[in-house]
Order: sequence, then structure tokens, then C-alpha cells
Amino acid sequence: MHGEQGALLVASQLASCAPTYDAKLYAASQTFDEARHVEAFTRYLQEKVGILYPVNPNLKSLLDKILSDPRWDLKFIGMQIIIEGLALAAFNTLKMTAKDPLLKQLVHLVIRDEARHVTFGVNYLEDFVKSLSHEEREDRAHFAYEACVVMRERLISTEVFEHFGWDVDAAREQVLSSTIMGQFRNLLFTRIMPNLKRIGLLTESVRPRFESLGLLQFENLVDDGEVDWAELSRPLYESS
Ligand SMILES: [Fe+2]
Ligand SMILES: [Fe+2]
Repeated sequence: MHGEQGALLVASQLASCAPTYDAKLYAASQTFDEARHVEAFTRYLQEKVGILYPVNPNLKSLLDKILSDPRWDLKFIGMQIIIEGLALAAFNTLKMTAKDPLLKQLVHLVIRDEARHVTFGVNYLEDFVKSLSHEEREDRAHFAYEACVVMRERLISTEVFEHFGWDVDAAREQVLSSTIMGQFRNLLFTRIMPNLKRIGLLTESVRPRFESLGLLQFENLVDDGEVDWAELSRPLYESS
């Protein structure tokens, strides 16, 4: 829900600060998508779950950075590549594991939108990054790396530990030493890494850093840059 709130604000900023007509129209349509996502997740949490946690401090710090930085491409990289790339992997896991049919369907519909957002980001940025100077590109590559570090930390749910009255440090240690949680945290980067490679932000200077996080192994997976227009244009519910 907090990620969707952030996406709503970032997409609305992009409608005004993105540099081209196509990108503005796209950002305006994304703004409407994110408004629907915010409403759907908020109502699901309020009416079906009954617990609303505060925003995770790591997610908040990344959202604040993206929202307050004047560079439109940094907003694009932070939102469409990092936050939404991670969300896409997380939503796919949720869709597979959710037991509530309502949540399954809700997430299925949100994934359709998010896939479009990530695809546009990859295609748009691929051309733009080529036009940057070496120094500017390095600057973006390091921003993307730092954003990934923050998003890994975001996956340790200290708000949840506090809600249930657990020892936060002990719970954190438990999560960090868990093999399954470690694999899950890495799996969430399976969409981000090939997309960063495609847009040209896996530069020589950041590769060793990603390697030490154990994420470089995903760089050659299928990226989200291929657009299946037939699939994207297909009606949501086809008449039988
Ligand atoms: Fe969304
Ligand atoms: Fe989105």
C-alpha cells in the first residue's frame, strides 16, 4: 500500500516533468493506475485484514529521495526499475501463495498494470541512458545500486516485529540467518537485474558491488524490455 502511494505521487510528478509527449501521456495513465492500486490495497487492508503498519523507514527514505530529487530520470529509475521491478517479483510470489481468492485476483490485476509500467520504464530509459555522459551514467548506476541496498533492508519488517512485541534485534538476526528468507530476498531482484543490464546501468564500477550482494547471478535472465503488444492490448475479460 505504501509503495502504491509513493508510485501515485511519483507518476503524477512525471506527468509534468518527463521531457517528452509520449512519456507525459504514459505517466498520466500510470497515475490513474496507481490511484486504483492505492484504493484497492487500502480497502483490502482495512476491510479484510484489519492491521495497517506504518511505512517502512527504508522504503520511506527511498521514496523521499525520488520525490525530492529534481532529475526526472532518477524518478524513473527509482520507481519504474527498482521499486516496481521489486513489486512485480513480490506480487508474482503473492499471487502463487495467496489462499484468499479475492487477494489472488486483486494481485493478478495489479500485476497486469505493473508489468506495463516496468516495460515502459525499460524501453524509455534504454534510449535515454545511451545519451548520457560517462559521469552522468555512473551517477545513475550508483543511485540504482544504493536503491537496491535500501530495498533489501526494506524486506526486514521491523514494524511487524514491533507490532507483535518481539525483540527487534533478535527477530532481525533470525530473518538474516534464515536460508529461505535469504533466497526470497534475492529472488525479488530477478526482475531488476536484467532490466538494469538492458538499460546500461550495470557498469563496471557497480558490478562488483552487486556481486557481493549475490545479485549479479540474475543479470542474464529475461528482461522486461520486450513488448508483447497483442498481450497488452488484449481485453481484460474476453467474451466466451
Ligand atoms: Fe501500482
Ligand atoms: Fe505501478
